[in-house]
Amino acid sequence: MEKKIIFATGNKDKMQEIREILDGLGAEILSMKEAGISLDIEENGTTFEENALIKAKAVAGMVNEIVLADDSGLEIDYLDKQPGVYSARFMGEDTSYEVKNQELLKRLTGVPKAKRTARFVCAIAAVFPDGEAVVRRETVEGYIGERPEGENGFGYDPIFYVEEYGCSTAALTRQQKNAISHRGKALRAIRRELENRFYQKES
Ligand code: IMP
Repeated sequence: MEKKIIFATGNKDKMQEIREILDGLGAEILSMKEAGISLDIEENGTTFEENALIKAKAVAGMVNEIVLADDSGLEIDYLDKQPGVYSARFMGEDTSYEVKNQELLKRLTGVPKAKRTARFVCAIAAVFPDGEAVVRRETVEGYIGERPEGENGFGYDPIFYVEEYGCSTAALTRQQKNAISHRGKALRAIRRELENRFYQKES
């Protein structure tokens, strides 16, 4: 029987990216909804790793499959790594990213480029039916630009610039962003963990 992996998210865009990167693993990837699970999980950890584990363990307690969960956000060094684990909740969940991005730019007014360093962070946790858990944390380093640019991506992408391309991650194509992004790297790291584990169990 084909293995099943449940990814603890309700976000459709994330599911598509996850399916692309975990393709060929020989497992069926299901969202929580597809697995018939409805659960409101409080993300009360203080790190991305903790939050990813909280989510994965909560769902793993309800099923007998491999469960993955992620937590991600933006750390701005000049602002003591804010908004960090509060990235989605910064200024309120319902506030538009246009407003959130303008506020962050305002807080960095007059700050030179060298001090505008920032990173996107993504932690992905995997919890196996035997209770074993692994977490992988990956980042993409960059800086907060002087103004928003680009039409792609979401959230803080328009103000997060990468040196390699000299533009914001909202100005990159989906493939370009996936190749360098925190989430792309963390998904590929977790894929290697799953491959090792499947291989060990089968050999
Ligand atoms: P999560 O869905 O709880 O992991 O929330 C992550 C939040 O961090 C999002 O709502 C965005 O505000 C921000 N974020 C995470 N990854 C990205 C990204 O790739 N681009 C832009 N914003 C991101």
